[in-house]
Amino acid sequence: MKLPEGFFIGAATAAHQVEGNNIHSDYWAQEQMPHSSFAEPSGSACDHYNRYEEDIRLLAGAGLNAYRFSVEWARIEPEEGRFNEKEIDHYCAVIRFCREQGVEPIVTLHHFTSPLWLIRKGGWEAESTVEDFRHYAEYTAEKLGNGLRYVCTINEANMGLQLAAIAKRFRLMARQAAAKQAEGTVQVGMNFEKMMENMKFAAAENASVFGTPQPQIFVSSRTPEGDALVFRAHRAARDAIRAVCPWIRVGVTLSMHDCQALPGGERAAGAAWDEEFRHYLPWLEGDDFLGVQNYTRTLYGPEGQLPAPEGAELTQMEYEFYPEALEHVLRRVHEDFPGDLLVTENGIATSDDRRRVEFLHRALSGVERCVGDGIPVRGYCHWSLLDNFEWQKGYAMTFGLIAVDRATQTRMPKESLNVLGSYAENKK
Ligand code: BGC
Repeated sequence: MKLPEGFFIGAATAAHQVEGNNIHSDYWAQEQMPHSSFAEPSGSACDHYNRYEEDIRLLAGAGLNAYRFSVEWARIEPEEGRFNEKEIDHYCAVIRFCREQGVEPIVTLHHFTSPLWLIRKGGWEAESTVEDFRHYAEYTAEKLGNGLRYVCTINEANMGLQLAAIAKRFRLMARQAAAKQAEGTVQVGMNFEKMMENMKFAAAENASVFGTPQPQIFVSSRTPEGDALVFRAHRAARDAIRAVCPWIRVGVTLSMHDCQALPGGERAAGAAWDEEFRHYLPWLEGDDFLGVQNYTRTLYGPEGQLPAPEGAELTQMEYEFYPEALEHVLRRVHEDFPGDLLVTENGIATSDDRRRVEFLHRALSGVERCVGDGIPVRGYCHWSLLDNFEWQKGYAMTFGLIAVDRATQTRMPKESLNVLGSYAENKK
């Protein structure tokens, strides 16, 4: 089956993970701390800030027609209320270059990192963040909106609650061995073991950098009030963007597992799905699309979440290789959310590109079946264009369609890049 005309086949990145030297952000500050939970600092990352033309050319050359990337709030507004025109010009140039290459730019305004000043003000549990984010979104739309048709306000707006759930499980298990297992249950690079070891030192270091021992960065355990605040920020930004650029389609993205129940696990699986997705439905009303981000499934038994089945193939991230999860999630989301869906992330961390190729074929067949059944999936963006900085796990996780030798910043496209391109309509 062929995907319909206009279907986006793209790849995704996030500013902090690829650009390099994002020095005004909360993550940068955390990476420099003596007792940091990060395996290594992001440093110059993939130097994508300077090499974006080469990277977008490779993407377009393989036939891909969309590039999802994020603009960095901490670059655009390094101090509260002081916007940096030079950085806006940079992102204007990236968007222009995408268009020249026949690539649709899909821009995310917030992908985990925040300006340091925002976190010092109380971060993602502080009421003032709603207005701060709205203001940044409005400014960015005014400056960049002419070149854009799709904007994601916040990446994985539900991540804080997922982390809160893990923290709770973790406290219950309260054993070092459990930390290792917990890492494989969240779709983002976290080092729980290291975080536990470092906790007492981190509190003092946080206090000196952020003015509080427990900074509320975006990827901190969220309270229910903080969870609602993130979605109020999304809606405030959405309305601001629409007021300035009514042609832009605005949505939010969510991290969603394929929550499967084994006998007796129906209640736990249902509750997990409600928490990850269904309780947000009122907040999503009026959005133009929903960004779906999926990497694997999670299994539930009578006692709650279970590890991957015995003998299952695991990715570098310790979660199960299970590309069918995407189709299941798309179908399930569609039951409750009738609007357009955009797969904004889906991928696999592996050193064996043949496994990525297999993953891609199986995930995309699922997307094709969904489209064939009339589910309005409008595009698929693979995570990631480049091997990049996987947050606390550093550079060891290789999610990229393109390998990067960080010593020389040489790009080495993998076979999977061409395989993904072969699904795009303009591929001859
Ligand atoms: C995030 C990405 C991350 C990816 C792989 C998603 O949670 O949006 O930033 O690199 O998963 O873990």
